[in-house]
Amino acid sequence: MATERTLSIIKPDATKRNLTGKINAKFEDAGLRIVAQKRIHLTPAQAGKFYEVHAERPFYGELCEFMASGPVVVQVLEGEGAIAKNREVMGATNPKDAAPGTVRAEFAESVGENSVHGSDAPETAKEEIAYFFAGLELVG
Ligand code: CDP
Ligand code: MG
Repeated sequence: MATERTLSIIKPDATKRNLTGKINAKFEDAGLRIVAQKRIHLTPAQAGKFYEVHAERPFYGELCEFMASGPVVVQVLEGEGAIAKNREVMGATNPKDAAPGTVRAEFAESVGENSVHGSDAPETAKEEIAYFFAGLELVG
């Protein structure tokens, strides 16, 4: 399997509870390298643009408000099959369905406030990385 990069976000519910280090340890333990990382506070418009694909979903308004409610840590994870591997480490969207040991099983508070985002495919990973990072900021 090829080396890939994926976009990860540690969401406001997790930064608020000081969980950045614990979550990063799970990524690193799984063999993912953090090749870029920064802590930012999104505006509702910036969160809305990021989650545009969900604009028609009933939870969109609440999701954008939540993502702008506090700081997030945006990061690029690199590794063999990084997109799928990160999704594995994250666990299912709803923490009730997340496998034991995953980030969402251990830390998520609800289906909305679920601690992490991860890209779902190569094309979205590319777009999402470019949304937050310039090429020079990715240090592999
Ligand atoms: O984040 P993931 O790719 O696992 O799930 P998604 O289906 O792409 O949904 C994006 C985000 O919307 C989720 O991570 C949740 O924060 C939120 N969501 C929600 O609030 N209620 C739902 N029923 C589904 C998703
Ligand atoms: Mg998704």
